[in-house]
Amino acid sequence: MKSLEGKNVFVTGGAGFIGSNLVEALVEKGAHVTVYDNLSSGKIEFIDKFRKRKDFAFVKADLLDVEKLNAAMHGKGIDLVMHLAANPDISLGTKVTDLDFKQGAVATYNVLEAARKSDVKEFAFSSSSAVYGIATVKPTPENYGPLAPISLYGASKLASEGYVTAFSHLFGISYCIYRFANVVGKNSTHGVIFDFVRKLSANPKELLVLGDGNQRKAYIEVGDCADAMLSIYERSNERENLFNLTTRDQMQVSDIANEVVNRFAKNAKIKYTGTKQGWPGDVPDTFLDGKKMESMGVKLKFKTSRDAVMNLIDIVAKTRK
Ligand SMILES: NC(=O)c1ccc[n+]([C@@H]2O[C@H](COP(=O)([O-])OP(=O)(O)OC[C@H]3O[C@@H](n4cnc5c(N)ncnc54)[C@H](O)[C@@H]3O)[C@@H](O)[C@H]2O)c1
Repeated sequence: MKSLEGKNVFVTGGAGFIGSNLVEALVEKGAHVTVYDNLSSGKIEFIDKFRKRKDFAFVKADLLDVEKLNAAMHGKGIDLVMHLAANPDISLGTKVTDLDFKQGAVATYNVLEAARKSDVKEFAFSSSSAVYGIATVKPTPENYGPLAPISLYGASKLASEGYVTAFSHLFGISYCIYRFANVVGKNSTHGVIFDFVRKLSANPKELLVLGDGNQRKAYIEVGDCADAMLSIYERSNERENLFNLTTRDQMQVSDIANEVVNRFAKNAKIKYTGTKQGWPGDVPDTFLDGKKMESMGVKLKFKTSRDAVMNLIDIVAKTRK
């Protein structure tokens, strides 16, 4: 088993939702962490508690600023790059069509090229179930194909995966690609539950849900997601690794809407826009196969999508008291 203790780990997007939880797990394992983040959607308070540590560094900079990126990595003896930074707003991609290309494909190329120049030998990439598009096999395993994303976000994730595998082949960098289900939990700042709570704060009488409510998605709790990323890294001896990170089931959007209304605005009427997709590019039915992840000994604390979602609803309820 590989150890993370004393390893120099460079985390892009480490001040974000998943990144900050991952940094916490890395620090617990004794890794020396450098976070590289432009704070566009991340928050400094998520990583504040680490900033006094000698084994932690924060660089506030953009991945499109190649000079700063190279300087942050070069000569620092980085062992492992974990690349999480990306545009978090999938639906925005329909309005700003080069957003995911720049923040996804180009940014990933920049991180890989900086890693190559700095002689980094290990790379981890946070991909998404969005690469599968409308999959016809459910639950969808990692070897499903052809991969046909239906959003520009999904396209950028698939392009990025391609850069990761090519850099690996050409320059001997080993990799872990993780395809996440919908991630929920501590430090979450976006996603369906936040949208619902925000809407109910503005109007406690009505909740307008995008879609017909029948969209079904797989969720995973963020602490489980971070632990799974690290335990797969530690246990794998392969050079090329591709894993879905997911619970074994799904939760329906109408169910989430009911739970949120129940907790935050009992008298609100739930209305649906009625379309099959929540927004153009939304995959209405995501259901990932987690058997490969489980075969690596990963055991989730929040075993079902409902457990993970209800945990976030509890967290949001506590912060609003
Ligand atoms: N949250 C989910 O449900 C989910 C699901 C599948 C995949 N993912 C992937 O996981 C990763 C993390 O997502 P998240 O939910 O934590 O999002 P997030 O927005 O909270 O985190 C992204 C972080 O990257 C930073 N960032 C963005 N663009 C940057 C740039 N150009 N230069 C430097 N920093 C930049 C942001 O400030 C933020 O801290 C992303 O790659 C995302 O696509 C997330």
